[in-house]
Amino acid sequence: MKKLLALIALSAVLLAGCGKSDDSDNGVKPSQTAKQVGSAKTAESAPADSPADTTAEAAAPEGTTTEAQQTPAAAGGILVAYFTPAENGENDAVSSASKVNFWGEEMGNAEAMANVIAAYTGGDLFSIQTVKDYPLDYNALVDDAKAEQTAGELPELATAVDVSGYSTVFVVYPVWWYTMPQPIYSFFNEYDLSDRKIIPVTTHGGSGLADSVERIKELEPSATVGEGYDVRDSDIGSCQEELESWLKDSGF
Ligand SMILES: Cc1cc2nc3c(=O)[nH]c(=O)nc-3n(C[C@H](O)[C@H](O)[C@H](O)COP(=O)(O)O)c2cc1C
Repeated sequence: MKKLLALIALSAVLLAGCGKSDDSDNGVKPSQTAKQVGSAKTAESAPADSPADTTAEAAAPEGTTTEAQQTPAAAGGILVAYFTPAENGENDAVSSASKVNFWGEEMGNAEAMANVIAAYTGGDLFSIQTVKDYPLDYNALVDDAKAEQTAGELPELATAVDVSGYSTVFVVYPVWWYTMPQPIYSFFNEYDLSDRKIIPVTTHGGSGLADSVERIKELEPSATVGEGYDVRDSDIGSCQEELESWLKDSGF
């Protein structure tokens, strides 16, 4: 009975997720938007913990401590890593139901939130992408995500970032089946974020942060995990002001 009620509740949430976000008020794009970091992983590419952008290091005078040599706490940088199926689907487009018109561009809900966070904090944006393409169709995506979760699969990541220069890592993603999408599990599996502050940020159809904080604490036991923040999918179009005010209250 309990299982049946949970299924009914999730069906309602997923149906709500099918609805388009209200994009009538989609915020004001700041004049300075964030820098995208990270690179595509290839067989020949450098390991994930090698610098993706070595400009600062190359320019540093001899004897200067570079970002890569600093401890994460001293480095102080902010990384905004996000996963959205809109950037991981066949032809980079899932169904229009998963996209919002934000700052004049079509993007995934999690991507819109990541953009606001990066622009406000001055952080760098990193798109977590998988080798695998997720299905275009919403219902097929729901089934695929369930199968992946049940099998405990960790999809291989197609993009990599050097995390050594960042002391704070926002991780932004949609809730999938009451938890984090499997690519987010892959991300935490691949990167050791010890000594950093990790802040989970979710978008969802009613599940809030789901079990994010508990799971991330298990996966990154030597990190500090913040309380996090969540936005309902139907509110994405108008989330900018409240999101920025939460960031301000959180000291960014
Ligand atoms: C596979 C899948 C599973 C989902 N599971 C949940 C869930 O368990 N709880 C919930 O509140 N919303 C759930 N949703 C709704 C999404 O979290 C929500 O619509 C989100 O805003 C989508 O963000 P995106 O555009 O970045 O994909 C699910 C959506 C999908 C596609």
